[in-house]
Amino acid sequence: MKKLIMALVGSLFFGVSAQSQAKGIDIVAGKNAFETCRGCHSVPNYSNVYPTFYVPKIGGQRKAYVASALIAYKNEARARTSMLANAYDLTEQMTEAIALHIEASAGTKSKAPYTGDPAKGKKLAESCLSCHTNDLKDDATAPILAGQYGNYLAKVMMDYQSGKRKDAGMQSMLAGFSKENLEDIASYFADMKGLSIVK
Ligand code: HEC
Ligand code: HEC
Repeated sequence: MKKLIMALVGSLFFGVSAQSQAKGIDIVAGKNAFETCRGCHSVPNYSNVYPTFYVPKIGGQRKAYVASALIAYKNEARARTSMLANAYDLTEQMTEAIALHIEASAGTKSKAPYTGDPAKGKKLAESCLSCHTNDLKDDATAPILAGQYGNYLAKVMMDYQSGKRKDAGMQSMLAGFSKENLEDIASYFADMKGLSIVK
């Protein structure tokens, strides 16, 4: 029994010190690791092919969301794309360091024309703004949508609808919208000031 208590106390201390180590996130290491990402995420209007859409802007994106997105690619909770190869070997510490760098490194706010009616989109998107604000709240996990490329937003919203990208909350919130509705919503967010490429 005494041994068991000692083991429990030991693991408690170990837990605490592991946690405080994880807090010492090294933003410089994150910046260095981001070098391999620049070819796609630091180029304005860089296009993915098959399907064709612009590689999402992540400059100024919330760090908690960036980290959760990288983990989702790594675990293949998000469909396989070129992002699997970029995320699969990231440690937890490095994921947080990269996320911190991305949040702090807003660059050029490149714009790309997108079809859709932003005025109609604005009305349809009223219920979305409680979560998709531009505030960088530490604990917020919903992504910033303002300034994102319209064709990327439309594509991911269709991926939620079809279940290709898994998120029960987003799937049910988007269930009633037509393709045209989604294009209008996408153009509304694409027209706003917000995200940028990473500088
Ligand atoms: C070959 C081009 C390419 C490279 C290199 C690349 N990415 Fe990506 N990235 C993409 C594409 C394409 C997507 C959208 C994938 C999808 O549909 O889910 C994406 C998505 C993301 C997302 C999710 C954005 C969102 O709004 O959900 C994050 C975060 C991200 N990448 C971070 C990184 C990081 C960090 C690196 C380097 C370690 C990196 N990427 C390297 C092409 C790239
Ligand atoms: C209760 C909070 C909440 C509400 C309300 C909400 N969302 Fe989301 N949304 C989220 C979260 C959390 C995610 C991240 C899910 C994931 O990791 O795939 C997300 C992801 C998204 C994405 C993916 C962005 C990217 O960079 O890949 C889009 C697009 C989106 N939501 C659109 C909408 C629209 C349009 C509405 C309103 C009809 C809406 N959301 C309402 C919480 C919310």
